[in-house]
Amino acid sequence: MSAPARLRCDRTDAWRQLHAHYAAEGRGFDLRDAFARDAQRFSAFSQEAPHVFADLSKNLIDASAERLLFALARECGLEAQRDAMFAGEAINASEGRAVLHTLLRKPAPALAGNEKFATKTIAEGLRDVHATLDAMLAYAEAIRADHTITDVVNIGIGGSDLGPQMAVLGLDAFVAPGKRFHFVSNVDGHELAGVLRGLAPEHTLFLIASKTFTTAETMANAQSARRWFEQSGGVDVARHFAALTTNVEAARAFGIEHTFGFWDWVGGRYSLWSAIGLPIALAIGAEGFRGLLAGAHAMDEHFRTVPLERNLPVRLALLDVWYRNFHGFTSRSIAPYHAALRRLPAYLQQLEMESNGKRVDARGDPVPFGTSPVLWGEPGTNGQHAYFQMLHQGTDVIPLEFLAVRDAGHDLPGHHPRLLANALAQAQALMQGQADPGGHRHFPGNRPSTFFVFERLTPEALGAFLAMYEHRVFTSGALWGINSFDQWGVELGKVLARDIEPRLASGDASGLDGSTAGLLALLRPD
Ligand code: F6P
Repeated sequence: MSAPARLRCDRTDAWRQLHAHYAAEGRGFDLRDAFARDAQRFSAFSQEAPHVFADLSKNLIDASAERLLFALARECGLEAQRDAMFAGEAINASEGRAVLHTLLRKPAPALAGNEKFATKTIAEGLRDVHATLDAMLAYAEAIRADHTITDVVNIGIGGSDLGPQMAVLGLDAFVAPGKRFHFVSNVDGHELAGVLRGLAPEHTLFLIASKTFTTAETMANAQSARRWFEQSGGVDVARHFAALTTNVEAARAFGIEHTFGFWDWVGGRYSLWSAIGLPIALAIGAEGFRGLLAGAHAMDEHFRTVPLERNLPVRLALLDVWYRNFHGFTSRSIAPYHAALRRLPAYLQQLEMESNGKRVDARGDPVPFGTSPVLWGEPGTNGQHAYFQMLHQGTDVIPLEFLAVRDAGHDLPGHHPRLLANALAQAQALMQGQADPGGHRHFPGNRPSTFFVFERLTPEALGAFLAMYEHRVFTSGALWGINSFDQWGVELGKVLARDIEPRLASGDASGLDGSTAGLLALLRPD
């Protein structure tokens, strides 16, 4: 199969036209005037998608800019690139891999029906996906029914930690009582030691989560967990340890019998839908986990089939490109007005910044424009009492994303209306501003935001939202012409750490730069 035609955004006609449009209208665009001019702006710039409604109308964009951005997407071959991903082509060229996390959410009936699969890999992959999913969910249900297991400890880092941790916290309303969930990622022993302090080996299940089963932090924590288990009188490692990995052999060599596999076509930061999601299944049950997958699949179908003009991930990504490359905004903030989503910003950081934090295009040529923005945030209303000052009155414009649910899912009176009022008021204040000739109380306004609304934070809704974000990141990466699915930038530091670690013991500073040598001397044990 030949690679889809992809034209880098800066080599298109639409790019040139967008620059002209930005100079003529974009730079001076004012949201308050736009709403005054157009009574239909809210509906024109809102988008329904599975399980989520998005209000894009408080963004610095008009219909002409959006039209040019759709033209840009088409010139870049976005649709062909998207289809190539779903068809299982090796679009992760620098690692020679397909990118098929969408297959993890594809329902089993496709196997029994008349559906024609693009490749044998997809047909076989889907069979393997469902065999593993069924086995993993059966295991999850058995552990859920086993009341002797009170504590589940997930040991993993990056994609083997952030997704499951975020989702287990986010879906706490659906978590059955009786089990506690712990997540240990850092090689800093404070983290594991703190968790182990409260545990009894006979009541604990350790999940060693690592796509490669080589990651230094995870291996160190797994070794220490097993040592603790044995030294604290634990028996039956087979019952108390399970591994979630593509490297089943390494897990077996470690001494773990219970393993749930996945495949090299699932990127680490796209893996919560695979066996890496076992902690989620343990927390919310098999039905809940299938709901999460179903929500994501509904969004996959939206992304795959809906025309660009009504396609939520596409519209969001085009805004991202507009802000990053024309307005020059370097950062985006996310404010979930739902306290359970407190790890969502950290999860999205890996998704977006590890995917699109690239300085060369897919051919290895440097790109002459900005790529991933810095993504950051905290739940509302906490952020309001910390950094919102800067969002309202700082010198940089930072687009903000609000998330709110209509049905709180708890019954504490008064809290939810107050929470929602804060979210709405902050978005309003950012846009409207306030004039103060004295200066200090002046709010410039015209600060952009996007507002996502969910009926309730269910597994289906969370699944749809996360898949929407994955496809948004895919789309901006496709326009930028980069490979969103490798992560070579994390390797150099790992190599250097392997060189430095023995030097901490030996004190050998030969060949080190002056600063590293000086710090090494300060940090060495006596
Ligand atoms: O170092 C970065 C990274 O490779 C991430 O991409 C990945 O999610 C994380 O490390 C963990 O990797 P693994 O699941 O193989 O332990």
